[in-house]
Amino acid sequence: MRPITVALAKGRLAQKAMDLFGRLGISCEEMKDKASRKLIFANEELGMRFFLAKASDVPTYVEYGAADLGIVGKDTILEEGRKLYEVLDLRTGRCRMCVCGPESARERLKHHELIRVATKYPHIAKDYFYNRKYQTVEIIKLNGSVELAPIVGLSDVIVDIVETGSTLRENGLVVLEEVCPLSARMVVNQVSMKRESERIARLIKGLQELLREDEGN
Ligand code: PRP
Repeated sequence: MRPITVALAKGRLAQKAMDLFGRLGISCEEMKDKASRKLIFANEELGMRFFLAKASDVPTYVEYGAADLGIVGKDTILEEGRKLYEVLDLRTGRCRMCVCGPESARERLKHHELIRVATKYPHIAKDYFYNRKYQTVEIIKLNGSVELAPIVGLSDVIVDIVETGSTLRENGLVVLEEVCPLSARMVVNQVSMKRESERIARLIKGLQELLREDEGN
């Protein structure tokens, strides 16, 4: 049996996803060994393989078929814009993509002034401002701690993930506009979806039942 390979975005999402798979009886003992430097884990009996990758690489592995399935945040899916099917909302890792900044930026934003936007997500920011708001902005790509940008004068606003809102609060920033809600999603390679349709459909159905169960509780 050809194994089904699953790419997991490293970190909290991977843990949550493995908990769900575990409840379906799909687990990888080796993966629980935190000291291990191994990158790929197999459950031979079930014909499943799992590997951990940097979140932004997960859609790439899935588009090229190196992984049949992927578990990754909607933010990464939107930003990477890869050819794949998004089949399931895992309803975990829920947060929002927002335009944030100091309260003083609200007016400039509203009046479509040429503002600077710092973000780790230049495609999402561009799509939001250009295609949804018809607003010309200057986008500055950063790689982390984006909240710093308006504080030190690099940008007027940021486009970033807001989960609890505490990073914003602690830095005197507020949500100015909401771009979209986010959560962990399951994505599928387009060829695998046909070739492995039965096994993948069974997996999706199993996960959907678990999610329904959790929702009821
Ligand atoms: C994310 C995001 C915000 C923060 C939001 O950053 O970019 O900075 O979490 O969470 P909160 O609303 O609960 O405060 P992350 O910690 O992933 O790292 P980064 O700052 O390096 O981007």
